[in-house]
This record gives sequence, C-alpha cells and structure tokens, in this order.
Amino acid sequence: MASDPKSTDDDLDGTLQEALDELDSELPAEALAEIKAELKREMADVIRRRVPARVRRELRRRRIRAARRAEAAADEVAEEEFERLTLVMRIQHIILFSSCIILIITGLPLKFPDSVFAKLLFGVTHGIHFSGILHRIGAAGLIAVSAFHMGYIAFSREGREQWRHLFPRLRDVLDVIGNVKYFVGFSREPARFGRFSYIEKFDYWAVYWGSVVMILSGALLWFQDQTMRFLPKLAVDIAKEAHSDEALLATLAIVIWHFYNVHFNPDRFPMSWAWWTGKIDKEEMIKHHPLEYEAIMAARATEAQGGTEREASAPPDHQQAS
Ligand code: HEM
Repeated sequence: MASDPKSTDDDLDGTLQEALDELDSELPAEALAEIKAELKREMADVIRRRVPARVRRELRRRRIRAARRAEAAADEVAEEEFERLTLVMRIQHIILFSSCIILIITGLPLKFPDSVFAKLLFGVTHGIHFSGILHRIGAAGLIAVSAFHMGYIAFSREGREQWRHLFPRLRDVLDVIGNVKYFVGFSREPARFGRFSYIEKFDYWAVYWGSVVMILSGALLWFQDQTMRFLPKLAVDIAKEAHSDEALLATLAIVIWHFYNVHFNPDRFPMSWAWWTGKIDKEEMIKHHPLEYEAIMAARATEAQGGTEREASAPPDHQQAS
C-alpha cells in the first residue's frame, strides 16, 4: 500500500521535533527551523534521485512480465485452432451437400437413362418411380436449407457478417490476376487471402445461382399440371431444358471446381475436416488465410498492449489488486 505523503511528512516533522527538542533549550527557534528546512531539502533531493530509479526498475519488471506473458500466449497459439465454421454453418453445409448428392444421383440417370449408372440406380430403386420420390426428398432438403440460409443472412448477426466477407470485391479480381501471374511464373508469391478466397466465393455464389435455377425449374416440373393451367407448355419445356442443363453444369462445377479445391488439391487431400469440426489449425490458417490470421494477431497485440498500458498507468494499489 502506498503511504499518505501528508502523514509521512507529519511523522518526519515529529521525529525531527523529538531529536531537536533535546537541543531546544540551547538553540534559538530560527536556527531550529533552519536545520529542519535544510534536512527536508536534503531528503527531497534523495527522493528526487531515488524515485525515477525506482520507477524505471518497476517499468523494467513489468516489461519482462509482459514479454513472458506474450511468449506464453505465442506457445498457446502454436497449438491453437481457429474457428472456420460455426455449428449453424456446418449443419447448413451438411444438409446442402447431402441433398445435392441425392439430387445428382437420382437426377442424372433421368437425363442419361441408357447409362450404366442409370440402370444400376433403377435396379436398386426398383424403377424410376422410387428414384423420383428420392429426388423430391432431396429437393425438399435443398429448398429447406436455402430458405433457412436466407433467414440466416438476413436476420442473424453471424450470417450477415459472414455474408459481408463473402461479397465479391475488386480485391478478388486482383487475387485472380496475382495467382495467374504466379502460376505462369511471372510472380514469386501466390495471392494471399483473408477469410474467404475468390475460390470459396465462387463456390458460394455458384450455389446461389444454381439453387435459384434448379428450385424454380424443378418446382415447375414437380407441379406440371398446376403450372400448365396458368402457363403455356413452352414454360414447362423451358423449365425442363434449364433444369436438365443446369443439373449437368452444377454437377461438373461441383466435381471439377469444388472437389479439386477442397479434396483433390494436394494441399488439402483427402479433405479438411473443418466441415465436421468447424476448426482449422494454425498451419492451415497461415497457409490458406494469411490475411485473416495477421488481422487476428494484430488485434490481439493491440489488446495486450492496451492491457499493459492500462496496468502501468493504474495507481499502485490497483496494480497490486489486479
Ligand atoms: C442440385 C440440384 C438438382 C439436380 C442436380 C437435379 C437434377 C435433375 C436432373 C438431371 C433431372 C432430369 C432432367 C432430364 O430429364 O433431362 C431432374 C429432373 C427433375 N427434377 Fe431435379 N435436380 C436438382 C434439384 C431439383 C429440385 C430442387 C427440384 C424441385 C424443386 C427438382 C425436381 C425435379 C423434377 C420434378 C424432375 C422431373 C423428373 C421427375 O419427375 O422425377 N430437382 N433433376
């Protein structure tokens, strides 16, 4: 506890007084006052010399403590995992890919009924009828997750934030150019990404476009009789063509673009488990999302610095308590 300067002063006065009382009778009052003042001046000099040294020592001690804390935090970070997908995001992704797998497996054989795969599927599902029911179950999954996702990005803070990160920006175009330059040997460094790369953004927006086309055209086909009451047959023909062609395009996009980037790319093979655990380790974070990693570290450093400065500028009592 810091002592009260007023009471210290009073104590000093008291001690001095006691010492001088003995000589009181022999010395005049002015001489006593002079000695007292002189002693006080000398002590003030001592204080002036010693306080800065003491403060410097204290600062050094605090800096060493802060450095040790930072070292311990860095060790912790070495094993740290970073959240990539929250539980809500993972559930949406699982429903989305399960629905798409069912839709592709039960849809494409209708487009290529003479293929080996179609015969295999219709053999297992005892004909087209049952595989049509499976297709509708998959469709219900896709519609449900799409509707939920709209609500998620419109009404939840997390959804809006992620959506903002996914929004295409000029930076993505520059990253594409940067990566092309790197791939053809005109640059030494590949593009460095933040939370979502242009590859992931393309994946995300392709699903948007694909889902809109597939759900609208699929619904027209599903409720053909009702559709034809209001629209000419041409509308159903267009829906069938759009559904059939977009199905092939979506399947190829998934198999070529998505599968390469998240499975067959040697950096990822066989896959990142983030879709299940929601987490990636530090190494993956630095490799695939270096800008996000640096932003997190910078925010932490600022926070730690703020903490140390607050601690250093706090009164001594407060420092001991904290
Ligand atoms: C990833 C999504 C989807 C894929 C890959 C897909 C694929 C396909 C394919 C290839 C066909 C056959 C087209 C042809 O005969 O040329 C088809 C038919 C059909 N699809 Fe989809 N589809 C998807 C989503 C949907 C959705 C969301 C719905 C409903 C809203 C739907 C409803 C239908 C219907 C009603 C048919 C007609 C065949 C039948 O009656 O079983 N599909 N689909």
